[in-house]
Amino acid sequence: MVRDQTVWWSDRMTGTLYGIGVGPGDPELLTLKALRCIEAADVIAYPVLENAPSFARSIVEDYITDAHEEFPISLPMLVDPAPAQKAYDAAADEIAKRLKSGQVVTVLCEGDPFFYGSFQFLFTRLAPQHRVEIVPGVSSLMSCAVSVETPLSARNDILTVLPAPLPNAVLQARLETTDCAAIIKIGRHFERIRALLHELNLEDHCRYVERSTLPSQRVLRLADVDADKVPYFSMILMHKHGEAPQ
Ligand SMILES: C[S@@+](CC[C@H](N)C(=O)[O-])C[C@H]1O[C@@H](n2cnc3c(N)ncnc32)[C@H](O)[C@@H]1O
Repeated sequence: MVRDQTVWWSDRMTGTLYGIGVGPGDPELLTLKALRCIEAADVIAYPVLENAPSFARSIVEDYITDAHEEFPISLPMLVDPAPAQKAYDAAADEIAKRLKSGQVVTVLCEGDPFFYGSFQFLFTRLAPQHRVEIVPGVSSLMSCAVSVETPLSARNDILTVLPAPLPNAVLQARLETTDCAAIIKIGRHFERIRALLHELNLEDHCRYVERSTLPSQRVLRLADVDADKVPYFSMILMHKHGEAPQ
């Protein structure tokens, strides 16, 4: 919980790291607690992929002021995780310096911090030595189901989350045994995933969502998606309609 003013002074002796979920895109899906963590921050940190604008920052930009120090964490987009891990090492060192000087550092994370969120890489590095609090956010998993206007799962349905970069054999085995699935990180993998879903006769059970909750949101049948234009912030939801209402 974000502390009130009376406890605040002692907090400042050691500093606090907040990892906050800022939701899937619509700024109104920011929680009150996350907003308080932004307002309480001396430093606002956020990941940026290869110096592209930060999506997480854009969601909360109305609340970032000149009083905040902004700390972008530049990450390479490579299949090899090692360079990104080095970037997190360096960022954690910088954040640790600010925490030791008593500052409050708030790290922005798109969606929820612990659902495939980048914050976990700072959490594992900093939690052993520092006060860390995590604020859950509205995840894209939840918002995409709302975008397609179809319940995600019901009763005893088994829901499986599948990262698209996994090999087809792994995806196929999971798709065959689950009732419903969310396929995330589809981007450049879209055409391969669409072909696999077609082969498994699941294409008609799927909907594609891009930029859920933003004004630019699109919901499409897989056949209508231009594979060359699939953005990173997109997902396929599959439901065999086991127990979820149709
Ligand atoms: C690294 S995961 C981060 C998930 C995030 N922490 C969350 O809770 O939603 C990134 C993937 O989440 C999905 N995603 C995140 N935001 C989205 C959005 N607004 N619309 C559609 N998919 C989204 C996409 O599949 C994207 O490739």
